[in-house]
Amino acid sequence: MIEARQLTKSFGPQKILDGVDLRIESGESVAIIGRSGGGKSVLLKHLIALLQPDSGDVLIDGESIVRMDERQLLRIREKFGMVFQGAALFDSMTVAENVAFPLVRKKKKHTAAEIEKRVARALEVVDLSGVQKKNPAELSGGMRKRVGLARAIVYEPQILLYDEPTTGLDPIVSDSIDQLIIRVRDQFKVTSVVVTHDMRSARRVGNRVMLLHEKRIYAHGTPDDIFTSHDPVVRQFIDGVADAKETL
Ligand SMILES: Nc1ncnc2c1ncn2[C@@H]1O[C@H](COP(=O)(O)OP(=O)(O)O)[C@@H](O)[C@H]1O
Ligand SMILES: [Mg+2]
Repeated sequence: MIEARQLTKSFGPQKILDGVDLRIESGESVAIIGRSGGGKSVLLKHLIALLQPDSGDVLIDGESIVRMDERQLLRIREKFGMVFQGAALFDSMTVAENVAFPLVRKKKKHTAAEIEKRVARALEVVDLSGVQKKNPAELSGGMRKRVGLARAIVYEPQILLYDEPTTGLDPIVSDSIDQLIIRVRDQFKVTSVVVTHDMRSARRVGNRVMLLHEKRIYAHGTPDDIFTSHDPVVRQFIDGVADAKETL
């Protein structure tokens, strides 16, 4: 369903991706881990053509999306929902308006009643019924993340991309967000790609874990494969991150 072939990307003199290959099948949930600043967000943005590679290809359902025009990309992006780092809600709009945003933006017209119904259903999925009229600024960090997730699922996409969905949240709230990611995956049968540097979260939400290291996918496998790996780089990464977290 999602395939990257030999992706390379530089910003000026700085090479960020150098030969990234990955394949994600329909219905899979994949956690992409890697050090902060290692290019995880950059990679994710290539999967929906928010960024274009210098070379290489990205295929969605077998179709190359590299160098598609904007009209074609609109059609491809309708397959995706994206939960951005930091929720990225509009504080000048109510929760309901935020969640409805992808529907209003779509070319296909929805009636006001239909939008209201879909917004209510999306908020119900994330356990946030009844907050439609609130302003995002009135909500806690965890609730804002949930609103971001409701917005991503409001038009029932086939693929959900999450960028650091639990970063900056305390462990209990993180757990509840992970549970929601799993619930949404199972309930809607969506393909999920979760970028995270939270190892606990990666282990829970991914059927498969990929390690982005030195500008490419260095290792991938089931969570057990990765977390019991004897590869020194994988080990150092997993143990190193765990140690860093314990000293926080
Ligand atoms: N639009 C951009 N222009 C220039 N540099 C960028 C841009 N986006 C990301 N970078 C750089 O690419 C590197 C990887 O960033 P990022 O993908 O955000 O890392 P991660 O998500 O793994 O923490 C960083 O050094 C960042 O500064
Ligand atoms: Mg990032």
